[in-house]
Amino acid sequence: MIKNRGIAMSLKESALAVRENAHAPYSNFKVGAAIRSASGVIYAGCNVENIAYPEGTCAEAGAIAAMVAAGETRLTEVYVVAGSPAPVPPCGGCRQKLSEFGAPDVVVTMATTGGVEQTMTIGDLLPGAFGAEHMQGD
Ligand code: THU
Repeated sequence: MIKNRGIAMSLKESALAVRENAHAPYSNFKVGAAIRSASGVIYAGCNVENIAYPEGTCAEAGAIAAMVAAGETRLTEVYVVAGSPAPVPPCGGCRQKLSEFGAPDVVVTMATTGGVEQTMTIGDLLPGAFGAEHMQGD
């Protein structure tokens, strides 16, 4: 449970709060992500850019890393927020990362800091995902 002054935060509040910590001096585009794990705990992450641009990491990747570091590997809900005019969907790499830990019916809410929200599922975001079943055979 992520707390602010001792009060438990929602998924949305957690994503908005962690976004404030984003390290985005190159794009000036701060992103916050919060995921709820199977146990109900919320993990949050922000984008962390680097002067060597390809070394930067997305907010979703940070949240997933926090969950895995805490010993959990299943997520049940995702919230991503950015200061954009329209809700920004996860990049291609993050769709694959979300698909590793969440079922196709997991709801991903994409939001703007202005309060506009759009929801899709992981399956909507990554149809035809490459999965373990594709590695059977031979
Ligand atoms: N970014 C994320 O953190 N998540 C997304 O879903 C889209 C893009 C970050 C990466 C980079 O730091 C900045 O946004 C601009 O692409």
